[in-house]
Amino acid sequence: MDSSVADADRAARTWHGQAGGPERFRLGSEQHKTLFCRMLLDTFNPYKPAVIDWPKLDPDARERLVSLPIWDIAVQTEGKAKLRVATYGETVSDKLLKEAIALNGFEEGRHKDVLANMVHAYGIDLAEEPAYVKPRDPEWAFMVTGYSECIDSFFAFGLFELAKRSGFFPPALVDTFEPVMQEEGRHILFFVNWVAWHKRNMKWWRRPWFALKVLAVWAFLIWERIGIARGLGGAPDADNNFTVTGSKSVGIEVSTGELMDICLAENARRLAGYDPRLQRPNVVPRLVRFARRFMAKPKPVELGSTAHRDLFCEHFKTTYQHYEPDKLPWPELDEAALARLRSVPFWQEVLHTELRAGAIVKQFTETVDDPVLKEAIALQGFEEARHAELIRVMIKRYGIDVQEHALDPLPADIATAFKDFGFGECVDSFLGFGVFKIARQSGFLPESMFAIFDTLMYEETRHIVFFVNWMAYNEAQRGRAAGWRRGLTSLRFYIRALKRLVGTARRGAQINDGKEFSATQASVFLDGFTFRRFLEDCYAENARRMQEFDRGLLRPSFLPKLADVALSSLRLWSFRRNPA
Ligand SMILES: [Fe+2]
Ligand SMILES: [Fe+2]
Ligand SMILES: [Fe+2]
Ligand SMILES: [Fe+2]
Repeated sequence: MDSSVADADRAARTWHGQAGGPERFRLGSEQHKTLFCRMLLDTFNPYKPAVIDWPKLDPDARERLVSLPIWDIAVQTEGKAKLRVATYGETVSDKLLKEAIALNGFEEGRHKDVLANMVHAYGIDLAEEPAYVKPRDPEWAFMVTGYSECIDSFFAFGLFELAKRSGFFPPALVDTFEPVMQEEGRHILFFVNWVAWHKRNMKWWRRPWFALKVLAVWAFLIWERIGIARGLGGAPDADNNFTVTGSKSVGIEVSTGELMDICLAENARRLAGYDPRLQRPNVVPRLVRFARRFMAKPKPVELGSTAHRDLFCEHFKTTYQHYEPDKLPWPELDEAALARLRSVPFWQEVLHTELRAGAIVKQFTETVDDPVLKEAIALQGFEEARHAELIRVMIKRYGIDVQEHALDPLPADIATAFKDFGFGECVDSFLGFGVFKIARQSGFLPESMFAIFDTLMYEETRHIVFFVNWMAYNEAQRGRAAGWRRGLTSLRFYIRALKRLVGTARRGAQINDGKEFSATQASVFLDGFTFRRFLEDCYAENARRMQEFDRGLLRPSFLPKLADVALSSLRLWSFRRNPA
């Protein structure tokens, strides 16, 4: 991917609106409307289907593609979607909403062009397209398209991921379709927010009618899918159900349960980058999560096996995001925000930690023999160095008073240093999640600044997931796979990490003597701060950030468990103090 394409791609998957904390917000308000419309408009990816360079496929890959039974229905679905969305757009009077819906319609048309070009490039025969008929009830048609996208995209996300993993789609083709998939993610996000906004802005007597209409759309869509599966709809439409039966066609045998897990993880991942204040499509994920309870759990990969190694390394590599720190959309800060940013007492520590992290990981990489592990760890080293660079860029740009010192020489036992660093990251990230959330909610800095740091937080989350899996793999390789043994080893390292943290905090307190991070600055952060709330935020944020990772992967569990116990005791304690 060249860098302008990568930038457009990145811009399409992360977006945060301006100002205002997540809680101060009403669905159906003007602010809500601005938020979901701007989300769609600002994340537009200006690629042109006509200039897509269709990768040359080897005969096998081409044959696989041609034999998929979906191309007719795909082209026709996009054609219908374009007309339906555009037609509804014509009835809308609100300027911003009209603009956003027009863009949605344009993108559907572009999907159709992408598909048509691809079909042409690979010599796939299409049935003749039916005439597209302008819908009589534009609102109904828009809703049918919107909700069916909510169903189809959810499954398509998972199938696409599966096709990518199995190599069914060669990487060049994956790159070509990636923006289309992400666009469908934006569409359903836009759509569910439109529904939430729309129903709150209609005359009271229309609301029950609208609720019925929503039900009718769902009934229609379910009937369409089940009915077709039973052959009631006749053979030509059999493709309509591809989303549900497609996993075999893309060349991987997975259980339905596993496929559902992948769909859930992909759905969460694709929507994770957008403003948390926006509603998420939740009907399909909820239903699937419910159904999932009655299906067999996937066989966990055996820790220490090659499959385990490949899973966590592959996952780490495929979730890599390209960016260059100095080209990020750094905002202009006003005096007050600038003062707050400069007053944060830990930039020195953060820069130093990232620099050291980069050095440790880099040096450790050299001692690793396994080529798969080596590649993944090298990538982590690169990302740590990029974190240091990002902090440097920020320091320079906003004139933060931080001196960069040369690093102390690294310990001779680099493997232990790597482990210490890994457990340290687990501790720092868990606490960092809570701090980040509180700071973001309090509007300590503009949202655009948090959007940048969110990328960093996401990378740290990937690092710790990678690390705990590497650690378990490594221990198992040495014949120490038993849970209790791994637990003891982790405990020892966690205690060391916590001791270091306390040391750092003490040193920090001495240097700053509490003066610089003055009471007024801190109060922005600490308004209504309680230890319990902080812990709750850490816990909830950790859970939220972890849910988008593949369920076959281990996750750091020590601190979440500890926090869980602590929170239960706190609850019990406050209950006994004030019995109801
Ligand atoms: Fe589409
Ligand atoms: Fe769409
Ligand atoms: Fe880092
Ligand atoms: Fe990291």
